Amino acid sequence: MKDQAYHLRELIGSFKENKNKVMNMNRVPEISARVLAITSGKGGVGKTNFTINLGIALSNANKRVTIIDADLGLGNVDVILGLIPRFTLANVIRNELSILDVMIKGPKGMNIISGGSGIMDLVNLSKKEIDNLISNFYLLNQCSDYILIDTGAGINNSVVSFIEAADEVVLLVTPEPTSITDAYALIKNIKRDKKSVKIVLNRIESTKEGHEVFDKINFATKKFLKFEVEKLGFIYEDPSVKKSVKEQEPLILKFPNSLASKGIDTVAYNLLNNQNELKDFSSFKRFVNNLFNKV
Ligand SMILES: Nc1ncnc2c1ncn2[C@@H]1O[C@H](COP(=O)(O)OP(=O)(O)O)[C@@H](O)[C@H]1O
Ligand SMILES: [Mg+2]
Repeated sequence: MKDQAYHLRELIGSFKENKNKVMNMNRVPEISARVLAITSGKGGVGKTNFTINLGIALSNANKRVTIIDADLGLGNVDVILGLIPRFTLANVIRNELSILDVMIKGPKGMNIISGGSGIMDLVNLSKKEIDNLISNFYLLNQCSDYILIDTGAGINNSVVSFIEAADEVVLLVTPEPTSITDAYALIKNIKRDKKSVKIVLNRIESTKEGHEVFDKINFATKKFLKFEVEKLGFIYEDPSVKKSVKEQEPLILKFPNSLASKGIDTVAYNLLNNQNELKDFSSFKRFVNNLFNKV
């Protein structure tokens, strides 16, 4: 029987290989920004850290990344990065500023947009406000290859609107039983047609554990919802994550060789690798149409 250290070495080897591939991948021009709604069944599973670091990994592969912080809870993108946004999406909704004015520059040239109270307002917009927001969102499409939305846990209406509007949902799950059942509940409660739900297992202790948790979720969704989820990657439990949060410096920049960074690099690699299969899928236009047909 192969020991745990063997599996770990094997895993690190494949991470190294993937990281180099992420770094070397040439820039492919994309007609439309790819929108990923990043969410979880419950809070505190690592979404914000994941979103920021995934953004950096994609930037390292020459992709233009915009992060929308749509989480109303604590520990927001700006706090983790030590940035202070003066303006938010609320200023755009009120037609005070354009979306380009509320963007701040994050690490590796990423654009960061803070949703602020604007996220709650999304469910109550007038036709005029919606039209204004749509034209602003189109500006985003022109300056982004990837739009990552840190949605917060799938509890309030605005969060659900984002999840339902995006063709691709990245669902973070930890091996805790409550995280697994809440992830299942989230999948059950959203409209799933033509949607790709990609699972990232965070804070795992072994790949075996990662596969087991994934299989549990996929078994339940297949059996009861006739829906298959996808496996996007595994991120190890790693003390470097907490250290980087304390120092307000993103994990991938501070500890690029940590196990958790390697997991995130692999997720980026997997995303970059299946972008050509998507075609019209995940287009930004569809996202905006879906978002405003729903709210
Ligand atoms: N892979 C990991 N290993 C160790 N700790 C982690 C990991 N991912 C997240 N954490 C811990 O969980 C905390 C919450 O993460 P955060 O990204 O703010 O979660 P969320 O946005 O889902 O609420 C982090 O501050 C960190 O301490
Ligand atoms: Mg968060």
